[in-house]
Amino acid sequence: MWTMDTIEWLDIELTSFCNIRCKGCFREISNEADKILNKEYLDLDTIKEKFKKEHFSNIKIVNFCGSVDEPTTHPQFFDIIRYFADWNAHINIATNGSLRTEKWWATLATLLPESHRVTWGIDGADSVSEIYREGSNFEKVKKNFRAFNGAGGKSNWQFIVFEHNEHQLDQAKEIAKQEGFKDFKTIISHRKDTKTVKPKQDEIDTVEELSYISCKYSNQKRIFINHMGNVIPCCHYNSKMLEYSVTGKVKDQFEELLDKHNYKDTINLKSTTVDQAINSDIWKEIINSWSTDSPAPRCNQVCKQLKRDKFIKEKL
Ligand SMILES: C[S@@+](CC[C@H](N)C(=O)[O-])C[C@H]1O[C@@H](n2cnc3c(N)ncnc32)[C@H](O)[C@@H]1O
Ligand code: SF4
Ligand code: SF4
Repeated sequence: MWTMDTIEWLDIELTSFCNIRCKGCFREISNEADKILNKEYLDLDTIKEKFKKEHFSNIKIVNFCGSVDEPTTHPQFFDIIRYFADWNAHINIATNGSLRTEKWWATLATLLPESHRVTWGIDGADSVSEIYREGSNFEKVKKNFRAFNGAGGKSNWQFIVFEHNEHQLDQAKEIAKQEGFKDFKTIISHRKDTKTVKPKQDEIDTVEELSYISCKYSNQKRIFINHMGNVIPCCHYNSKMLEYSVTGKVKDQFEELLDKHNYKDTINLKSTTVDQAINSDIWKEIINSWSTDSPAPRCNQVCKQLKRDKFIKEKL
């Protein structure tokens, strides 16, 4: 299913720090947030030791986007970018854009390889964006993206549609065009609690459910590494992985596997390699469950019932 030679895409959650509070984020929703957040970084030495270019012969994308992190909070961020910049892979960075200075962002543009995107999560065309991105400041974000784009950086504007910002979608697209963004991504979020907007029939693929589990991450030859160093099949397991790490509470088959196969010794980078993790019994049993009568529940929800976000991507 996954092998080191076929992995094309790494998702890396660099930290458990963020400067703002988005209402729908795991940081705000999880009951265990205080035990997880603002504690740990995946440090540069671990990254250098566990991610060596020669072990990822088919790598195409390194994506700095986790479930709880603002990657630009990482104190060694520039060194991490420098490290991956000569991998000959595309680098993506998902950010709220409200940290750091214009000088910092202009420098980042010079460090990134030719193929890159910074994906700015801006859910509005002005201060309306601060309604969801609570604690952010649109004017500051604007200064930062101008500095980055002006220094040759390539940007993607990402807009999560809610009832309160839907009316600004076209305006945001227009600003993105004027400001030199390369792409525009609209997210129709499946999360219920933040008054997100239902997709229009003609806008997206309307398939409601598949007859089998079609693993999004293995189809994309992609894996996920969280800031604690746990190597897991995808981002959709990260909330469970993080919560189990601090509570030890078994909720379903997934935590049973973490417990049974002692995840700290089998999928955590403090004691394993990425190769060992993706070949571990935890990974094998998740994959094997797909063809049984009791598939891992999260896999069933996300990759059969398709309970996940929908994206609409446009070139500007
Ligand atoms: C936890 S964030 C980490 C990256 C960065 N802090 C950010 O917000 O862009 C991961 C991704 O989730 C997105 N996100 C935040 N709230 C969301 C929501 N309610 N529905 C769907 N995606 C959301 C973010 O925009 C980002 O692309
Ligand atoms: S900026 Fe990203 S990590 Fe921070 S609260 Fe918002 S979604 Fe979560
Ligand atoms: S939820 Fe399961 S099936 Fe879906 S991408 Fe993740 S590991 Fe694959």
